[in-house]
Amino acid sequence: MRDNKNFKPFTYKVDIKNEEISNPDNHIIRKLSSMKGQYMDEKAYEEMIKKEDCILYEVYEKFAPEVEGELLQGMSIVHPGKVGNEYFMTKGHFHQILDTAEFYYCVKGHGYMMMENPEGDWAAEELLPNTVLYVPGRWAHRSINIKSDEDLVTIFAYPANAGHDYATIETKGFRKLVIEENGKPEIIDNPKWK
Ligand code: F6R
Ligand code: MN
Repeated sequence: MRDNKNFKPFTYKVDIKNEEISNPDNHIIRKLSSMKGQYMDEKAYEEMIKKEDCILYEVYEKFAPEVEGELLQGMSIVHPGKVGNEYFMTKGHFHQILDTAEFYYCVKGHGYMMMENPEGDWAAEELLPNTVLYVPGRWAHRSINIKSDEDLVTIFAYPANAGHDYATIETKGFRKLVIEENGKPEIIDNPKWK
C-alpha cells in the first residue's frame, strides 16, 4: 500500500498466553539456515543444522501503508535455545531510512536488545515483561532470548516506510555478542566484528 487515503482505524487483540495477535497480515518464520555466518561458533552451527533446520524466531505483522507518518506493528517471538554458547537471536538490522526509531514492549520472557549505531556506540538493554524499550533512529537492533525454557515475546511499532538494511549486519556483525558463561549471560566482544 503506497498511500493512506482510504486506510481506516483498526484494533487487534494481543494474546500473550498463546503468543498471537488477531488477524495478522503476515507471519514470518526464520530458521537456522537464514543465520549462516551470524553465530560465533561456526562448527556448532554446522553440526546443529545437519540435525535440523529449527525455527529460531517468528514475527506476526499488522501492515500499514508504507508512507511517512504511518506505523507498522506486530509481535516478535524469539524461541529459547543456543548455537554453541550463543543464545538464539534475531538477524538484527538498521532501518533503511536510518533516522527512524522503533518502540518495543516486552510481554513475556527475558532477554536483551543489542544495539549499535554508525557513530560507534553500543548498548544492551534488558527486556523483561512490562519493559518498554525505545530504539532511537540510527541504532541497529537485535533481540536475544536468554531463557532456556521460555519464548521472548515483544510488541513493536516503527515507521511503515522505514525499510530494513540487513546487509550491513550480515557483513559486519554486531560489535558485541551475548553468550552463556557458567550458566549466566555475558556480553563479550564479537571476535568476527569488522
Ligand atoms: C522491525 C523490527 C522487528 C524485527 C523482528 C525480527 O523493524 O525491528 O519487527 O523485524 O524482531 O527481527 P529481524 O527483522 O532482525 O529479523
Ligand atoms: Mn527494526
